[in-house]
Amino acid sequence: MNIDEIMNELTLEEKCSLLSGADFWNLKSIERLGIRKIMMTDGPHGLRKQDMDASEIGLEKSVPATCFPSGAALASTWNKNLIKEVGKAIAKECLDNDVDVLLGPAVNIKRSPLCGRNFEYYSEDPVLSSKIAKYFIKGVQSQGVSACIKHFAANNQEFRRLTTDVRVDERAFREIYLKSFEEAIKEAKPDCVMCAYNKINGEYASDNKKLLNDILREEWGYEGVVISDWGAVNDRVKSLEAGMDIEMPSCFGVNDRIVYEAVKSGKIKIEVLDRAVKRILKLILKHSNKSQTRCVDYEYNHRLASKVAEEAVILLKNDDDILPLNKDSRIAIIGEFAKNPRFQGGGSSHVNPTKLECPIDEIKKYANSVVYARGFNSNNDEIDEALIKEAVNLAKISDVVVLFLGLPERYESEGFDRADIKLPYNQNILVDEIYKVNKNIVVSLSVGSCVEMPWLDKVKAVLNGYLLGQAGGSAIANILFGYSVPSGKLSETFIKRLEDNPSYINFPGSNDRVYYGESVFVGYRYYDYKNIDVQFPFGHGLSYTRFEYSNLKIDKNDYFDDECIDISFKLKNVGKYKAKEVVQVYISKPNSSIIRPIKELKEFEKIELDVGEEREVNLKIKVDDLSYFDEQFNSFLVEEGEYKILIGSSSRDIRLEGSIKVKNRQKVKRMYHINSTIMDVIKTEKGKELLKELVQMLDVDENNVQAKMMKEFYLNMPLRGLIYYGNGKYDFEKLNEIIDLLNNEA
Ligand code: BGC
Repeated sequence: MNIDEIMNELTLEEKCSLLSGADFWNLKSIERLGIRKIMMTDGPHGLRKQDMDASEIGLEKSVPATCFPSGAALASTWNKNLIKEVGKAIAKECLDNDVDVLLGPAVNIKRSPLCGRNFEYYSEDPVLSSKIAKYFIKGVQSQGVSACIKHFAANNQEFRRLTTDVRVDERAFREIYLKSFEEAIKEAKPDCVMCAYNKINGEYASDNKKLLNDILREEWGYEGVVISDWGAVNDRVKSLEAGMDIEMPSCFGVNDRIVYEAVKSGKIKIEVLDRAVKRILKLILKHSNKSQTRCVDYEYNHRLASKVAEEAVILLKNDDDILPLNKDSRIAIIGEFAKNPRFQGGGSSHVNPTKLECPIDEIKKYANSVVYARGFNSNNDEIDEALIKEAVNLAKISDVVVLFLGLPERYESEGFDRADIKLPYNQNILVDEIYKVNKNIVVSLSVGSCVEMPWLDKVKAVLNGYLLGQAGGSAIANILFGYSVPSGKLSETFIKRLEDNPSYINFPGSNDRVYYGESVFVGYRYYDYKNIDVQFPFGHGLSYTRFEYSNLKIDKNDYFDDECIDISFKLKNVGKYKAKEVVQVYISKPNSSIIRPIKELKEFEKIELDVGEEREVNLKIKVDDLSYFDEQFNSFLVEEGEYKILIGSSSRDIRLEGSIKVKNRQKVKRMYHINSTIMDVIKTEKGKELLKELVQMLDVDENNVQAKMMKEFYLNMPLRGLIYYGNGKYDFEKLNEIIDLLNNEA
């Protein structure tokens, strides 16, 4: 039966029943019409299908599945095609487990380093985040499994996440928080979007017509279903009208009955219900008709997880080229995480791995002399003198010390935010003590987000692996010994002090309200503007080789706003290792008429080069990508004038610079009104002509402070001020005439 035939057969009660889950993870079936159950499960970096009754939340036990590196690490690869492979691999495991919808990717912006779910999210930058998500979704959906991008939108903290009202200005909402979803939704077309728990400017995301209908469906052309986050529905009738189709998990019939009554009483139109039911049926039918091929090679997926982990590891520092290590060195491995790795985060994304590699076992496969000491107890922050002594003694007799540090699970998880960005005290002290006896220290970090490194000057190298998944052990070992060359880059800024973060004052808010006071200045957009010294900038990551950038070419100088900019340059591997580089394109708008970040990422690519190899890199960006969101016009606009195109190896390591000029094909038409300022009016030729006398009067000697003050007063005055300061020559009739002439000007 097709959708229309099914619609004709469904009773009102049955239609209402389809609006909510049968249990925690399944939609309802209607056997008489051949509508089968479809199953949705977490999550963003591996399948978490509980292996018990689906009527329970099941945060503990799930079927074995490949645990890929978590979101923060996936984004650190900056490798679009590799992320697509991850999507495909997870989807195959979904098929193998009869799962139809995967609840991921999770693309909320890392507004504060404290957010407990930062390990799951991709970036502080919406372009990086959305592009990574786009490829992940393409991978998942290429296998016939539906992806569910989440949490739509502005769900950037865990503290009171079910009720907090996010107060965000429209420009930041569009340019940062929605941007992180936009390209992924428009171009990868996920079958499902999960709406967030929180409120946005006073309205719950689930009830939010502007968000779920006006922007998502009407502006972006989205045709799939919207699913609530688990328990996010506030008012079922309102949410249905807003465009929220499926409520999860089961509401035990409560809201289905409310909708039934609302339709019966005419409170809600049957068309509104039908619209949602049709979308739900489309999703169900897609899965009813798909072929259920079970061909998962879990070994292959494990190896893929290892490859991804290798590409995710970021070499933050490497003084004296201490890395890669010499296999014949006497190596002390210190730190509990070398034996008991922290490889994933807590909460709904928690995967039961098919196997787990241990870094020390993998290191022993390469090195000839390895000793191990635990160094600290991750269960508490207290200093254990005996553990430190044992570690120091081994460090004394070793050529090099590799310290496995990180945040214990109890520090960060879904459900709660971190209190600060410090590592446990006992780990920082351990570094200080080791430094007293051995200066060759390499730190390998397992963290979900930015941490302070008070010992940074004492160590020669730092590797940040984030949470590397089940195959992180071999990835770290391969990188330590140079079998793989680091190519990860930071997808978030590592700041020096929490206070430097722009959301510091407004995180996590109070009285169930949080103000995004920093507006669009999130992450590097803020640190660059304020020229703040950071530990490691956005986009940073070293290699064992060196890359040279040269010969930037931009296909022309002048563009219209509906064109594309073709950029090319040469990249050469001038070092000793075959390796990959992430090239990053930023744009900058000198002399902007609005307050704008100094630079913004627009495109990136990961490129592999042999030793000595040089290649031409070709990238394209749309002129439209240079736009900002104009609140007055309620639309993205491209400012005319000069733009800089910056090619960097990181946001603070710009290697090449070019510039272009942009014109709008259609002039942006500002409308004038009684409160338009003289300054704005006389920017136009018509305005100058209409207020000719005034313009002449404003040609004053700038050294005469009184005259200058008067000039500024006039410039800042709204047109209505001419009633008082226009020598009696203006009344409202005259002013309205001026306004009409200005607005009618072509
Ligand atoms: C989380 C979602 C998750 C869902 C189902 C919610 O609490 O916010 O990310 O997909 O639970 O586990």
